[in-house]
Amino acid sequence: MVTVVFGARGNVGRHVAAGLLAAGEQVRAISRTPAAGLPPGLETATADLARPETLPAALDGADKAFLYGMLDPEKPYDIEKVTAAATAAGIRQVVLLSSVSVLDPDADHLVPRLNRTIERAVQRSGMDWTFLRPGTFAANTRTWWAESIRTDNVVRLPYPLAQSAPVPEKDIAALAVTALTEPGHSHQAYTVYGAGSLTLRRQVEHIGEAIGRRIRIEHISDKQARAEISRTWPPVIAEAIVNQWAAADGVPATTSAIVGKITGAPGQTYAQWAADHADDFR
Ligand SMILES: NC(=O)c1ccc[n+]([C@@H]2O[C@H](COP(=O)([O-])OP(=O)(O)OC[C@H]3O[C@@H](n4cnc5c(N)ncnc54)[C@H](OP(=O)(O)O)[C@@H]3O)[C@@H](O)[C@H]2O)c1
Repeated sequence: MVTVVFGARGNVGRHVAAGLLAAGEQVRAISRTPAAGLPPGLETATADLARPETLPAALDGADKAFLYGMLDPEKPYDIEKVTAAATAAGIRQVVLLSSVSVLDPDADHLVPRLNRTIERAVQRSGMDWTFLRPGTFAANTRTWWAESIRTDNVVRLPYPLAQSAPVPEKDIAALAVTALTEPGHSHQAYTVYGAGSLTLRRQVEHIGEAIGRRIRIEHISDKQARAEISRTWPPVIAEAIVNQWAAADGVPATTSAIVGKITGAPGQTYAQWAADHADDFR
């Protein structure tokens, strides 16, 4: 019984691989780059979802998979080819990391469209499926803010009072591990928000408390914020994030307690996430 974990070096995938290993499962950890940065003790393989010819070897002899949904909106992988390779290899269960954006009836944006296409293809494939539909990851704040905190002790924001309920990546992984190792999660879609609604300002304060420094907040325009985020992410996503912050200015975010309900252990708070990742901001 082998579980193939795609994106095993990724924010969520690395915890899925580690969690499955701790649960006594046999794991094959996938990266597009040979074995770099993967924890020891794992069987590793190289594959690229966007290059279907690499999939049969990676999936050979496995029966379960953890799969990322939309990865690169500008160069999406062909999900039909991925599900064809998975079923041909005998995979019978997939846990898919999708996105809460698929639930927004008004969202005709590229990200929900691609994730909806991927979900539908997995449903049609005949494999057992569980969809994890998280909101904004806590790890995003590291991508957006770690460099400016490290270099200038500042976070530049257009809407410091925008609220969100960041989801710690360990919690998403814990849901995936539960769905892959325990019965009762087939044909289920779990919407995953963080446990608390916090302003972006409060999130910055939690990081400051974790590293023992008071971090400055500087106000910037929407345009400047889009440019900052576009340094690491595709412009289409940067635009969606800034629009999301504008809409969330002063508005409490939806929260959820699903992690505790499904896994039996409470999810992390953002303050705990910040303490866990303090070194990334120092
Ligand atoms: N960030 C959010 O707020 C948020 C919210 C909801 C859903 N999501 C979903 O979460 C996923 C991204 O999470 P993240 O930003 O935390 O990503 P990440 O940690 O940067 O991980 C992406 C992983 O996917 C692997 N990968 C990338 N392209 C691949 C390909 N073509 N074939 C195989 N593996 C590939 C990479 O592995 P290698 O480089 O080792 O190959 C990397 O480990 C996306 O599916 C996104 O839709 C994100």
